Order: sequence, then structure tokens, then C-alpha cells
Amino acid sequence: MRPTALIPALCCAGALILSFLCLFAGHKKGFMEDYHMLTLNTSRLGENLVNSSLTDSGGPLSSIWNSIPTDIQNDVGEAIGVVTERLGIEDFYSAHILDYCYGQYVPAEAANATVSASDIHKNLTGCSNRTAMFWFNPNEILENALNQSGVDVTLDDLEWPADIQRGLDALRVIWKVAFVLYCIAITLIGIALIAALPAIFASGRLAACLNLMIAILAFIAIGLASALTTAVIVKGADVVNQYGDDVGVQAHKGGKFLAITWAATGLMLVVLVLWSVEICFGHRRRKTYVPAKHG
Ligand SMILES: *[C@@H]1O[C@H](CO)[C@@H](O)[C@H](O)[C@H]1NC(C)=O
Ligand SMILES: *[C@@H]1O[C@H](CO)[C@@H](O)[C@H](O)[C@H]1NC(C)=O
Ligand SMILES: *[C@@H]1O[C@H](CO)[C@@H](O)[C@H](O)[C@H]1NC(C)=O
Ligand SMILES: *[C@@H]1O[C@H](CO)[C@@H](O)[C@H](O)[C@H]1NC(C)=O
Ligand SMILES: *[C@@H]1O[C@H](CO)[C@@H](O)[C@H](O)[C@H]1NC(C)=O
Repeated sequence: MRPTALIPALCCAGALILSFLCLFAGHKKGFMEDYHMLTLNTSRLGENLVNSSLTDSGGPLSSIWNSIPTDIQNDVGEAIGVVTERLGIEDFYSAHILDYCYGQYVPAEAANATVSASDIHKNLTGCSNRTAMFWFNPNEILENALNQSGVDVTLDDLEWPADIQRGLDALRVIWKVAFVLYCIAITLIGIALIAALPAIFASGRLAACLNLMIAILAFIAIGLASALTTAVIVKGADVVNQYGDDVGVQAHKGGKFLAITWAATGLMLVVLVLWSVEICFGHRRRKTYVPAKHG
């Protein structure tokens, strides 16, 4: 009997749950939406067009613009809200490992004198279909939205920067590798959990060594997955914020996602350390006990 083996087993169980949540957060509408990787705030997309429509009634927006009541036209913020709605563009698009979700900010898109930033919530409209090798492609998402709304405005008219897409395309392979690594990590952590259970009852050095080996592999898999998703989140948000600023697009990093993926990695590190300690000191402890029993 080795009750100390209960601790790595519990840590494995925790890491298993957390890595499952990393993979499945946001996989359907309303399930852990806060645990997104990246959120694109597109509520001000088209601001530059609205600004130019104010002075010049021609341009790509003319047909939409002329149908908007004059009192709304005079309030730039409200006018952008109406324009993006007509264009079929949502306030935000949030990327998860398996899909993306979209919706509106309520009660307002931006903080003002009466609505503070902490009062603004996401109201989800829906999520895309889940796909194993998902790739977040805002270019395609926005183009589809424009096509579906049937307006005569293209992504070029909105001056959507090609650099955003170029920057995100560079992360495509990393995103897919991260997905595969999460699947491998979940499998290995599951094996580590199962392997830790017999070690509670059988106190052999072999069991501890076997557990240590599995724990090392699981730690590497979840650690790499966390490192790659961190790179995607940090680099992706930087690219969007750098090039999107001119057209009113912002990106938010998924802090909560980073927290749970690194917590899972931390738990597996604890497991790894505990098995190493068990191998080094557990053995010595038994050695001193054995003569005592027989003597
Ligand atoms: C649009 O106009 C407002 C003020 O009317 C200004 O604050 C904003 O920066 C302008 N946006 C762009 C993209 O030019
Ligand atoms: C702030 O936004 C809310 C929601 O759109 C609106 O009802 C309110 O009038 C705005 N307040 C100011 C001071 O603009
Ligand atoms: C969305 O972006 C606009 C400007 O791009 C900003 O004013 C607004 O506060 C943002 N809204 C949220 C909820 O982040
Ligand atoms: C959220 O959106 C749904 C429709 O998608 C709407 O019925 C509901 O009133 C919205 N909630 C808020 C708080 O605006
Ligand atoms: C999502 O899946 C449903 C059925 O499973 C299908 O009808 C629909 O076309 C799919 N949507 C997209 C965008 O692929």
C-alpha cells in the first residue's frame, strides 16, 4: 500500500479535466465562451467608411447610407452599429480550438458615460460547426457574412488589411499542431491516471519508474501544446492589433484559456516531481524498514 500515490493520481485527474476543457471550451454555444483563445472586436469595422460617408454621400456605402435616418447618421457610433448590422457583420468573433463563435456586445459596443466597460457582456448569436482541424480565418468569415447579407460591399471596400490574414496564416500550422498535441496529451494523461491507481497498492520501484516515464511524456505533450497555443494567442493578438487599428478592429487575448492550459501543465509537473521523489526516497525508506520488520 502506498497512499502517497494518491496525490499524483489526483493531480492527473485534475490535469485531465483541464486539458479536456481546453479542447472543448466553446465547442458549442454558451459552453465556456470566456475561455476563448482570441476574440476579434469588429464592432467598429467600417468606421472609416462611415466617416467618409459623412462628408461624401457617394462611395461603396451609398445605398445603405441613404436608407439610414438622418438623426442616426449624425451619431457616428450609432451609425456604425446600424451599418455593420446591415452588412451582416457581428460585433465579435471568438476563436476556440475547434470552432469560432460570434455575437453582439450588450448593452453597448463601447463604454460610454453611463455604461462602464465591466458592464459590457457578450451575447452569443451562434457558433460555427466543430471541425477537428479547425482554422480561424476571419477573411473568409467576413466575406461569407457580406455575401449572405446581399449588400454590394466587399472586404476591400472596408479596407480590411491583408496583413491581418497574412499574419494569422503564419500561425495556421501551429494551431493545428496544438490541436493534435492536446489530443495526445489527453491520451497520455489518461494513461498516467490509470497507471497511478495500481501504484497505490503495489509498492514496487518498477511501478514508480513506469509512472515517471508516462508522466514525463504527458508533461512534454501538454507543455508543448500550452507553449504553442500561447504563441498563437500572443502573436495573433499582436498582428490583429497592429494592422486592425486603422479600421477599428481590436483583438483580445484569451487569458482564461492560458490559465487553464498552464494549470494543467503545472499539475503534470507536480506529478513528475512526485514520482521522481518516490523513486529516490521511497526506495531508501523501504530499505530501512525491511530489516526492522525481520529483526
Ligand atoms: C472617425 O471619426 C471620429 C470622429 O468623428 C474619429 O474619432 C475616428 O478616429 C474616425 N475614425 C477613422 C477610422 O477615421
Ligand atoms: C451609452 O450607451 C447606452 C446603450 O447604447 C445608451 O442607452 C446611453 O444613452 C449611452 N449613454 C451616453 C451618455 O451616451
Ligand atoms: C471594441 O473596439 C472598439 C474600438 O475598436 C472599442 O472602442 C470598444 O471599447 C471595444 N469594445 C469591447 C467590448 O471591447
Ligand atoms: C441576446 O440575443 C438574443 C437573440 O440572439 C436576444 O433575444 C436577447 O434579448 C439578447 N440578450 C440581451 C441581454 O440583449
Ligand atoms: C454545419 O452542419 C450542418 C449539419 O450538421 C450542415 O447542415 C451545415 O451546412 C454546416 N454548416 C457549415 C457552415 O458548414
